[in-house]
Amino acid sequence: MAITRDEVLSWLKAYIQVIAENMEYLTELDSAIGDADHGANMNRGFQAVLAKMPSMEDKDIGTIFKTVGMTLLSTVGGAGGPLYGTFFIQAGNKLAGKMELTLADWTAAVEAATNGVINRGKASVGDKTMIDALTPAIDALNEAVKQHLSISEGLMRSAEAAKNGMKATIPLVARKGRASYLGERSAGHQDPGATSSFLLLDTAAKVWANL
Ligand SMILES: Nc1ncnc2c1ncn2[C@@H]1O[C@H](COP(=O)(O)OP(=O)(O)OP(=O)(O)O)[C@@H](O)[C@H]1O
Ligand SMILES: [Mg+2]
Repeated sequence: MAITRDEVLSWLKAYIQVIAENMEYLTELDSAIGDADHGANMNRGFQAVLAKMPSMEDKDIGTIFKTVGMTLLSTVGGAGGPLYGTFFIQAGNKLAGKMELTLADWTAAVEAATNGVINRGKASVGDKTMIDALTPAIDALNEAVKQHLSISEGLMRSAEAAKNGMKATIPLVARKGRASYLGERSAGHQDPGATSSFLLLDTAAKVWANL
């Protein structure tokens, strides 16, 4: 079993929809500890990705990811745009030329993507950012690859780990980004970027549930 290019495109389309559906929720989370724009930022970026989908459909998976990243970089401002742009560009570099993916390929791509975000934003686990959702998901994926689990099982476990990481941001005091300006008052709220990152991996688990 492998994740084909068409399945990558289906996942992207599903995530675009999920972001549109969760735009208000993400904005509400960002209004508590930020500037109430994370939902709108993400939706603006992914609607621009939607407009580019026809030009991506005959490309390899690496090019698809890079196109998504470049589109996010050029349409989304603030912190979230460059961070998610970097995420997709680094995943695209890792997947250059590929027409289908194993669970190990997907794991390597998510890991390279997350390392790109860490290099750019300098956040560590516990700083109350998207890294808190992504890092445990990578650990779960690496463990799934080691155990030779199916793609769907690995993705399910990574989504579960991301969900726990997202929820674990609630009591944390933010140490990076706009939320850190609030200091102790940032505690008690779920991080918006960790939430959109959980949704990314959760959508993969749902769309690729039969692999
Ligand atoms: N240095 C960082 N490293 C990783 N993630 C970060 C960092 N700073 C912020 N984030 C993530 O970005 C999310 C906020 O994204 P958003 O789209 O709202 O940008 P923003 O902070 O409003 O940007 P700006 O205020 O500069 O416009 C946070 O919830 C957090 O998960
Ligand atoms: Mg914001």
